[in-house]
Amino acid sequence: MARRGNIEQPQTADRFTVRVAVDYDGMSQLAADAVTDTVQSHRGAALTLPTGETPRGMYQELVSRISVGRLDFSTVQFFCLDDYLGKEITDEASLTGWLQEVFLQPAHVPPTNIHFIPATDPDPHSAAARYDRDIQHAGGLELAVVGIGLNGHVGFNEPGSAPDSRTRVVDLTSVSREQNAAYFDGEQAIPERAITMGLGTILEARRIVLIVSGSSKAEILRLALEGPITSDIPASHLRSAGSRLAVIADADAVLKLSRI
Ligand code: F6R
Repeated sequence: MARRGNIEQPQTADRFTVRVAVDYDGMSQLAADAVTDTVQSHRGAALTLPTGETPRGMYQELVSRISVGRLDFSTVQFFCLDDYLGKEITDEASLTGWLQEVFLQPAHVPPTNIHFIPATDPDPHSAAARYDRDIQHAGGLELAVVGIGLNGHVGFNEPGSAPDSRTRVVDLTSVSREQNAAYFDGEQAIPERAITMGLGTILEARRIVLIVSGSSKAEILRLALEGPITSDIPASHLRSAGSRLAVIADADAVLKLSRI
């Protein structure tokens, strides 16, 4: 059951679930509940969580649960979802560096349990294949929490990404580079390439949670959930996970959904 003030709306046609919180804080709580549930019920689970503005509140909530002893991340195998190619963790633009600061360190995730996506490997293509094998050796992802970009990207699986794609180097679209421009000093500095876990790996997760907040995401969420399943909108492929997919959104993000 959703908590009070939230609406739970099973989407029976595609069998995925949409949970709508009244606001960003409510969405963050529901997202933290999903992560907590997986971590508590699957000791040693492998999971991936996104960076960005949408998950900040979720991380805050998870860290506060960990700090009061309600949640323990010490056995979790954490796989990073994506990063800019060539960025060291110490680089201000590094997504992995951001994640370390906002979550992995305050959550006391043991460094040996953190699997860094190979953003700086001299041979990123072979390293990407090794990364996918590491995920398999960890038993596959128990949980993948992902956000959605304004162009429908998931991780950095940009439009055109195949549903069976694996970890790989990608060219970023101008939409994605502009979306993240605020993190950089002027457009020139925004990286042109990234490395991302593939849609195929994300789609194999035993539980997938798509978190979405704000009216700026309402149209792309409508296209992803109610438009055709197409690589033009990579997030639409998430629907093929059926009941393994839960969408957790705030009220502004679902404004354009016809079935809510
Ligand atoms: C980040 C990532 C991206 C973001 C998406 C939404 O690791 O994989 O796909 O989830 O761009 O970003 P925000 O939450 O900043 O709107």
